[in-house]
Amino acid sequence: MKTLILASLASLVMAGACAPAYAQGTDASPGERLFQQRCGACHQLATTRNGVGPHLQGVIGRSAGSVEGFKYSPALKGSGVTWTPETLETYLTNPGAMVRGTRMTQRFNNAEERRAIIEFLGSH
Ligand code: HEC
Repeated sequence: MKTLILASLASLVMAGACAPAYAQGTDASPGERLFQQRCGACHQLATTRNGVGPHLQGVIGRSAGSVEGFKYSPALKGSGVTWTPETLETYLTNPGAMVRGTRMTQRFNNAEERRAIIEFLGSH
């Protein structure tokens, strides 16, 4: 009896653990895929861990340079920018032109990709 309960518990746990991985593979929106490809190496969205860049959870509405524990460039920290879809659009197009001296140097030239990524950021 005891083994039976343990066995069914184990299969429940395993089913639970497998479901999210499966969902991730099939439900990714274009914005999510692009985010993983273009930004994911440096930025986390699903967690608040910082990497090469600060985590981007709740970035829309956030003041630039405000994630605690991340070592920003003085340029971004002192920029006075608030992240909105519009300021993100300008920053991603050419970070250094908007915030001279920022340590993020990648430019993202494809307007459609920027729009999809910003939309995805707004949903988190
Ligand atoms: C090679 C690494 C790298 C990639 C790729 C990258 N970033 Fe960054 N990003 C950084 C770094 C480093 C900073 C911090 C810049 C500073 O301190 O001046 C940053 C800062 C930012 C900020 C400001 C965050 C804040 O807290 O003020 C935003 C927004 C941002 N990145 C968005 C993006 C998006 C969206 C993408 C993908 C389209 C992307 N980044 C791709 C490295 C990267």
